[in-house]
Amino acid sequence: KTGYTALDYGFVNTAATKSAVTYIDGDQGILRYRGYPIEQLATHSSYLEVAWLLLYGELPSASELEAFDDRIRRHTLLHEDLKRFFSSLPPTAHPMSVLSAATAALSTYYEDESDPHNPEHVELNTIRMLAKLPVIAAYAHKKSVGQAFLYPDNGLSFVDNFLKLNFGVLSEVYEVNPVMSRALERLLILHEDHEQNASTSTVRLVGSTGANQFSSISAGINALYGPLHGGANEAVLAMLAQIRDSGESVQRFVERVKNKEDGVKLMGFGHRVYKNYDPRAKLVKESADEVLDALGVSDPLLDLAKELEEIALSDDYFKDRRLYPNVDFYTGVIYKAMGFPTRMFTPLFAIGRLPGWLAHWREMQTDPQTKIGRPQQVYIGSPERDYPRI
Ligand code: SDX
Repeated sequence: KTGYTALDYGFVNTAATKSAVTYIDGDQGILRYRGYPIEQLATHSSYLEVAWLLLYGELPSASELEAFDDRIRRHTLLHEDLKRFFSSLPPTAHPMSVLSAATAALSTYYEDESDPHNPEHVELNTIRMLAKLPVIAAYAHKKSVGQAFLYPDNGLSFVDNFLKLNFGVLSEVYEVNPVMSRALERLLILHEDHEQNASTSTVRLVGSTGANQFSSISAGINALYGPLHGGANEAVLAMLAQIRDSGESVQRFVERVKNKEDGVKLMGFGHRVYKNYDPRAKLVKESADEVLDALGVSDPLLDLAKELEEIALSDDYFKDRRLYPNVDFYTGVIYKAMGFPTRMFTPLFAIGRLPGWLAHWREMQTDPQTKIGRPQQVYIGSPERDYPRI
């Protein structure tokens, strides 16, 4: 018999990870960061305020938030040598590869300040990661479009500085679009954490060996890159464009998905936990129309996405499998309207998820119960046998 599952052997994983960071109810479509509903945080909070909440468990006071924001601004510069790292890569380098490589390279500058059991080192490197990952992502973007890197502008907010690093050019004054700024802030908040997803579990597993924050986050970035995980937001746009360019009807595409022709999937649909509508997808869909209208952008791919969702949600194949849009289904249309190339979508997911990764790494590091990760196995291979040429 092939395709045994552990459950076939009566194996139930009792060693579930214990965490106080995020709560998800997949059947009810509930997501809360440290007890606060995602709907409230996405509407009223900011990326850095939510980052503090995830890291420290409580909302910051105004002075705590101000000091946190200020500290991050003062760590946005990359070592000048690290800037040359980008020129060693081909212009076609995918920004997610650049992000994970540059993040791993960051640790080489701070090796004498990276003891995972030294609270000062942990705090300092958390700040460094939050400050520098957006800069690395923006430099990967600039490299891909052949434009000069800008220096961070500490006079701007976290999100506005990131927008300027991506879209500003040396020859002009950059004006931040407040609609883009607020929309990106909301999208980043929606991505900040999501319990024990593949990339967060990777960060915890790598960190459990005693690896520092940079190395652990670099591993998480690599896990997120996969098209079944964070890479799905990029894959959704490719799927929508393929439907548009092929001229095939949406109904015909859905039939191909149901027949599993060539392994085609409805990217941006389905989830390991949500067997109801992903609450984040609902919020993103709501803001998609608003953002595109405010930016004066009309994109037939948004209409195509809505048509695809409508057809899928009325089809028993998807209803029976409890497949709904997830966070990746609509985000790409908004990122595209903002002017980000498709290959920058997953780096945007990574910047959003960074506070969650750091919060889980720190939770794991400070838990005295933590042991080195070693996922259990059910052996289904050959029984003992003798080597034939003894
Ligand atoms: C993220 O874990 C997290 O929290 C992740 C995330 C986060 O914030 O960190 O939420 C972010 O990664 C969201 C997911 C992004 N990925 C995609 O959109 C890729 C497309 N989705 C699928 O690959 C899939 O839905 C997964 C990987 C997301 C979840 O897979 P599951 O839960 O293991 O589902 P499954 O593979 O067991 O499928 C069950 C059935 C199968 O059909 P049958 O074999 O029973 O006939 O549903 C089908 C699957 O073929 N199915 C799909 C489908 N997803 C599942 N069929 C078509 N299109 C899909 N997208």
